[in-house]
Amino acid sequence: MRAIAVTPGAGGPEIVEKPVPEPDTGEALVRTLRVGVDGTDHEVIAGGHGDVPDGEDHLVLGHEAVGVVEDPNGTDLEAGEVVVPTVRRPPNGTNEYFERGEPDMAPEGEYVERGIVGDHGFMAEYFTSPAEYLVSIPEDLAPLGFLVEPISISEKAFEHAYAARSAFEWHPESALVLGNGSLGLLTLAMLEAVHGYDRTYCLGRRDRPDPTIDVIESLGATYVDSRETPVSEVADAYEPMDFVYEATGYAKHAFETIEALAPNGVGALLGVPGPWEFEIDGGTLHEEFVLHNKALIGSVNSHRGHFASAVDTLSQLPAPFLDDLITGVYDIENFEAAFVDDDTTIKTAVEFDRT
Ligand code: NAP
Ligand code: BGC
Ligand code: ZN
Repeated sequence: MRAIAVTPGAGGPEIVEKPVPEPDTGEALVRTLRVGVDGTDHEVIAGGHGDVPDGEDHLVLGHEAVGVVEDPNGTDLEAGEVVVPTVRRPPNGTNEYFERGEPDMAPEGEYVERGIVGDHGFMAEYFTSPAEYLVSIPEDLAPLGFLVEPISISEKAFEHAYAARSAFEWHPESALVLGNGSLGLLTLAMLEAVHGYDRTYCLGRRDRPDPTIDVIESLGATYVDSRETPVSEVADAYEPMDFVYEATGYAKHAFETIEALAPNGVGALLGVPGPWEFEIDGGTLHEEFVLHNKALIGSVNSHRGHFASAVDTLSQLPAPFLDDLITGVYDIENFEAAFVDDDTTIKTAVEFDRT
């Protein structure tokens, strides 16, 4: 079968031939339909994040997959069921985080991530997975199923951020998303369509005309240009935000988020930046947290429950938004187009099979 893999230093992904995997006991064989591409894939390809499996020289990409059960192999799944795999696996058998269904809370060394760090991903014609890591989705959502994983990332971030505000009456009305990439725009749509925020904003650094600005405005949100209004000035230029969701990977935003927050607000940090030294006013930062009851959380990955919520959320997102978000689905012969990262590209996927 064909798979799309990256070899560190090779410069880009390429097609490799591999045998169709054989499911072990407890595993099912899945025929891949579509696999999405996100900023993390680009970071993995660039060598800034992730790693090949131990003892191997390449990594099969892909962590946002949807497929059809080809061989249930004695598991509870049925042939033909449409499934989405979760991303993390235990490196050596199992551990307490996986046993209690919270692999997303496992510390480094206690997990591998398929298609990202230490384990091959799903960008192949077939993949195997223990049934416990496969989430069933309705058949009619199959073409969009590759969006379940990224939506699940925000389901987790919302859960943790809201939990940090659960000790008092908190009724957020304003939200700012930092970043107009696919994760930022999906999250903006969730805030609008599912969470019912009165006023939403999304920050980018693009000139008009731009497809992401069109998406932001068609959702009814306000576009904020970070070159004109840095995050630290958003509260004065627009309004203080009850909720800020960072999806840029731009490290200064982690600290500037504090200034953008309203009293009692919470910020969720999702970006994965590399090292970058810069100066901050630590005193003001500390004071902002304390005197205004502000909170910041970091959030990575997601568990099965977040995937289940994401399926529900996906079915609530407006169809025109999804049409605008998905700028290209490419078959394996044209897979390179799915990895083009320019201003006309928002969300892409590689299609391995249609049914
Ligand atoms: P992406 O497509 O690269 O999106 C990032 C967006 O942020 C881009 O549109 C970029 O604008 C914008 N941006 C960067 N710096 C900016 C700045 N200073 N001012 C305004 N806009 C800025 O990536 P993605 O897939 O949406 O993911 C977003 C981030 O979340 C990445 O760092 C990714 O690694 C991370 N992530 C984390 C998790 C998790 O579990 N924590 C899950 C998925 C993704 P331009 O395109 O104009 O440059
Ligand atoms: C994936 C997560 C993963 C994170 C860090 C994201 O793009 O969606 O599942 O935990 O990257 O590697
Ligand atoms: Zn991802």
